[in-house]
Amino acid sequence: MSSALTQLGFSVPIVAAPMAGGPSTPALVSAVADAGGLGFVAAGYLSPDALSAQLEQLGGRRFGINIFTPNEADPGIDPAVYAAYREQLLAGGGIDPVLLPETPQRSDDHYAEKVRIALASEAAFVSFTFGYPDPVIIERLQSAGKRVVLGATSREGIDAVRDTGADVLSIQGPRAGGHRATVLGIDGEDADDQDLRELIRYARSRSDQPIFAGGGIADAADVRDILAAGATAAQVGTLFLGATEAGTKPAHLAALHDLRHRATVLTRAFTGRTARAVSNRFTEAFSDQAPTMYPALHFLTAGVRAQAAAQADPEQLHLWAGAGFEGVRVAPAAEIVSSLTRELPATS
Ligand SMILES: Cc1cc2nc3c(=O)[nH]c(=O)nc-3n(C[C@H](O)[C@H](O)[C@H](O)COP(=O)(O)O)c2cc1C
Repeated sequence: MSSALTQLGFSVPIVAAPMAGGPSTPALVSAVADAGGLGFVAAGYLSPDALSAQLEQLGGRRFGINIFTPNEADPGIDPAVYAAYREQLLAGGGIDPVLLPETPQRSDDHYAEKVRIALASEAAFVSFTFGYPDPVIIERLQSAGKRVVLGATSREGIDAVRDTGADVLSIQGPRAGGHRATVLGIDGEDADDQDLRELIRYARSRSDQPIFAGGGIADAADVRDILAAGATAAQVGTLFLGATEAGTKPAHLAALHDLRHRATVLTRAFTGRTARAVSNRFTEAFSDQAPTMYPALHFLTAGVRAQAAAQADPEQLHLWAGAGFEGVRVAPAAEIVSSLTRELPATS
């Protein structure tokens, strides 16, 4: 085990990435901690009370909290563009208009309150997605003894994170499942400077900061590669969707198996922000039309997605998944951690 890893308090170099919307549960975070890795509570979309309730269930374990940061670079809501996309969804057929709110909804996801909860919590790590927090917030968290984790998907982002004084750099490669954590740099797969291993090597050449890196990890060989490139720990999301402790919706989990021969695609169709999902009828019909308008489109499509989940219809559900989703197996989190790490050399 590397000394950087020991200093962070891990015994195995696996981070269970935050997965908002249900999959990250206190049971998953606890199981990964008990297996020697680090799990993140996904604060995104939770009410502050629900977040506090999750934190109460972690019983003295070492864990992180992930918070969505409002990103000032995001374009705001354009009512005409929202209405036009709503019309396109209706014209696409099969969607009940009552499921599609006519008025666009705003939300900062209770940012300030979640920061307050994180500050007062036992969390050892606090990570931020979609934007970098105000320097005052970083300092306050650090003064409270927490390590601040900030993400990047590009060289530009890596340089920006270093300049914030964050304790840990999180690099999300282009094959990652779910939303792209892009703050700076191009947000798409046509960006040819975003190979994960290249980004890790670049970050290593610039600083000694600990690095969590992931995106598309399918097996232990991928973990070895990422560590060999210079990451301190591998950050894994999609494979933990199969953990028995995860709260993955049954329809989502079933689709990862039943649709395993399909490709993943980058799409804004569900939320107005680029995310990687298994291709389905919804992504095929609407990816080309969806504007950039997060989280208004998240709320616009929420009813359709909830109905699809209830009806076990994978074709209208946001099937977030990384490009390595063929590696998903249903198993306890401890087994997933050990299958990802058993071929690692004793010291790395
Ligand atoms: C279902 C799902 C939900 C996610 N939710 C979040 C989130 O709440 N916050 C975040 O920073 N990243 C989120 N991500 C991205 C992961 O943190 C991570 O970058 C990604 O899962 C790594 O790639 P992989 O899924 O291929 O392992 C999510 C990913 C998935 C698959």
